[in-house]
Amino acid sequence: MKNIVIIGTQWGDEGKGKVVDYLAENAHVVVRFQGGPNAGHTIVIGENKFALHHIPSGIFQDHVTCVIANGVVIDPVSCYQEIAQLKSQGFLGDPSKLVISPYAHVILPYHKAIDSGREEKRGKDFLGTTQRGIGPVYEDKVVRKGIRLGDLLDTDKFRNKLSPLLEEKNFYLKNFLKKETFDLSPILETYLELGAKLKTYIGSPYVVLQKAFQNQERVIFEGAQGTLLDLDHGTFPYVTSSNTLSAAACVSSGIGPQRIDAVVGVVKAYTTRVGTGQFPTELTDSTGEFLQKEGHEFGTTTGRKRRCGWLDLVILKHAVFTNGLTHLAITKLDVLNKLEEIKICTGYEYKGKVFKDLLENTEEILTYGKPVYETLPGWKKDMTQMNHFSELPSEALDYLKLIEDELEVPVAFVSTSPERTDVLLTESGLAFK
Ligand code: IMP
Repeated sequence: MKNIVIIGTQWGDEGKGKVVDYLAENAHVVVRFQGGPNAGHTIVIGENKFALHHIPSGIFQDHVTCVIANGVVIDPVSCYQEIAQLKSQGFLGDPSKLVISPYAHVILPYHKAIDSGREEKRGKDFLGTTQRGIGPVYEDKVVRKGIRLGDLLDTDKFRNKLSPLLEEKNFYLKNFLKKETFDLSPILETYLELGAKLKTYIGSPYVVLQKAFQNQERVIFEGAQGTLLDLDHGTFPYVTSSNTLSAAACVSSGIGPQRIDAVVGVVKAYTTRVGTGQFPTELTDSTGEFLQKEGHEFGTTTGRKRRCGWLDLVILKHAVFTNGLTHLAITKLDVLNKLEEIKICTGYEYKGKVFKDLLENTEEILTYGKPVYETLPGWKKDMTQMNHFSELPSEALDYLKLIEDELEVPVAFVSTSPERTDVLLTESGLAFK
């Protein structure tokens, strides 16, 4: 299995970082292809916990080249901080191991001000964005006004692009959002300086990918957020501003779909969501609270409490279809260890009918459908000492079997603790060795 896309199947925070880190051991390149510092990938290595926002999760493997592709949006301030922190912790000793596309669009201070100003203006109808400027920066890209990372290396080019753009942003901030405006000079100065600092890492993703393909080396494409946050196929408007689906790996990194050998969907053993929007299996009772506490469900980027609920096979079927999933990676199974019984949503009741998928009337079913549950017994056992998939309690195996049977996609990996090494491979998972 050479080139693998790792994708979130729910509303993000499924534990993609851990799966990427695990597979990166046998990979040469890890590519981040969409989103920006709205994402937060947490990796636990021994006593240390690392939170990544821009940098691909392959960075902890010295032999891996990490690529930030064209489709990612970069906040140079926090990206540089992230690099500096990684270096101070003994990673990224060789700067050639990080290659950032000059065509990635750049988040500037007004993007963040517009993001938060809009949220404030929406009042009770706020979207719950991460306020990192993600929507506004992608908006500038689509109207073809955005500033790209490479622009920060050329003073005149940067000034000529920024000056008219800032005039427009300031007009909007002052007159529509009633917010503070920004001066040109400090932005120019700060971001030219950041451009100079990041210059060592700016390079062509095409070159890295071409070499890896020629040498038959493994490339991992690391998704951010999750399927239901996809701009076109998620719970619009409560979505992010990029395409989070597997196909975006090709578009954003500029490769053809024939390169992809496997699409691994990462599934948290229950469901979580941050921000506003539909969440049919949400639990607002003590079980929801239990999942939140037991799973440490706080956003890596914003620290917000994540909403928690039962696993939802209907949204997962949507993820199987829209991503073309070939394998599943189940994460945080251990969070369910203490439960007496576990529910799993197998359909939604809507207008007197039970819907098992979201192929039609997607929005209506997600908004008004009532989840139909199957109840399974819990296993009430700790899993940390288990080293092989077959050692899992029979009730846990039944839970996984139900997921596989309903989704018709094999489970390849099961993660049983936050620790990097606690990943169990199934028979299907052996293909990734
Ligand atoms: P934005 O991406 O900051 O514009 O936020 C839009 C929606 O996506 C909000 O509901 C956020 O909470 C959600 N979101 C963005 N990034 C992530 C993530 O990495 N994990 C989970 N939710 C996210």
